[in-house]
Formats: sequence, C-alpha cells, structure tokens
Amino acid sequence: MKKITTKIEKFQYFYPYSVAIVGGQSESGLNYMTCAWHTALSFSPPLFGVCISKKRKTHQIISEAREFSVNFLTIDQVKLSAQLGRRSGHDLDKIKEFRVKLSPAQVIQSPILEEAYACFECRLIEVKAFGDHDLFVGEVLAVHYEEEAFDQEGVLRPTRVLPLCYLGSDFYVTLDPDTLNHVLPD
Ligand SMILES: Cc1cc2nc3c(=O)[nH]c(=O)nc-3n(C[C@H](O)[C@H](O)[C@H](O)COP(=O)(O)O)c2cc1C
Repeated sequence: MKKITTKIEKFQYFYPYSVAIVGGQSESGLNYMTCAWHTALSFSPPLFGVCISKKRKTHQIISEAREFSVNFLTIDQVKLSAQLGRRSGHDLDKIKEFRVKLSPAQVIQSPILEEAYACFECRLIEVKAFGDHDLFVGEVLAVHYEEEAFDQEGVLRPTRVLPLCYLGSDFYVTLDPDTLNHVLPD
C-alpha cells in the first residue's frame, strides 16, 4: 500500500546516492565535507554541481577559493564519510583530527583526497541559491581515476571497486557485483 503525504520534510525516498567528499582550500583554511546532493550538469563544457547548505564551513571555503575538488570513496572508507559528514570545520580541523590524506591537484590549488578512486578538480563558475542550499557549479578541469576500476568506456567495474552509497540517516550500502547486467534495447 502506497502512502501519500503532503507534509514534505526530508523526502529521501529516491536515495541511494553515491557519496562524494567535497571541499577545498581558501584563506580561511582547508575543509572537506561529505556530500550526497551532487550531479553532472553538462558534458560540453564538463560541468558538475554540488548542493551545499549555507551553514556549512565548506560553503564558505568554496565561495572564497572559487574552486573545489569532488572525491569519490569506496565502502571501505565509510568511516571517513561519517567523520566529514557529521562534524563541522566550524568546530574542528577535520583534516588534522581525522588524518585525512591529501595530495596536490593538477590544475587547481586545492588538494584532492589521496585515497579517492575518482576525483574531479573544479573551477567555480556559478553559485545559485535554491531554498536553504546553494548549487555550486564547477567546470571540471581535471579528472583523476583508478584505471583498473573502470572499463575502456569509463564504466565502473563493480568487481574491482565497491563505491560508497548513501541511504540517508547514517546508513550506507554498496553494489552487489553479481547483479551486473549488460543490457541492450533490442
Ligand atoms: C552521507 C552524507 C551526505 C551529506 N550530503 C550533504 C549535501 O549534499 N549537502 C550538504 O549541505 N550537506 C550534506 N551533508 C551534511 C554535511 O556533510 C555536514 O553538515 C558536515 O558536517 C558539514 O561540514 P562543514 O561544516 O565542515 O562543511 C551530508 C552528510 C552525510 C553524512
């Protein structure tokens, strides 16, 4: 039986989302947060958007830095997602506290997460407010990826990498490689 509600609160009924760690470095410091609300927006130019509440330290950092990195984790790194997503850089230095390993980016000044299996370097091109979140739109200037994690078309191989996906609240899940199907329309 389907329930219908017009009292809309979290409306997470469409999850899972893949988990991204988003952030950068500005004159106010270095800070990263866990982000589920992210999306590709355009192939050409390559644009990627992240939706960030105005309350987040990361909002301030990206606004100042005018750039950010987007880093994708595996299920093994679930603890890091909880640490960067349940604690704020307004209260502590998360990079130091949680010993986040960073490495220099290729194009932007802000670092990337060393242990991410894929990551984007983005230059901020636009910020648009939508209710209590702002959409930060970045042009993707560089992509880093573990070669063995993807096939030649860039499709993730779930036999090689188990991406971290988020169900809401504090629940996470990954892919079951046994369900992989290659399906054609005819
Ligand atoms: C799995 C997960 C996904 C999240 N997704 C988002 C998101 O898309 N946008 C957002 O503003 N906050 C999101 N959050 C909350 C922030 O990560 C959290 O408030 C964090 O403490 C902000 O850190 P900061 O203040 O250092 O930027 C998410 C948290 C978790 C655990």
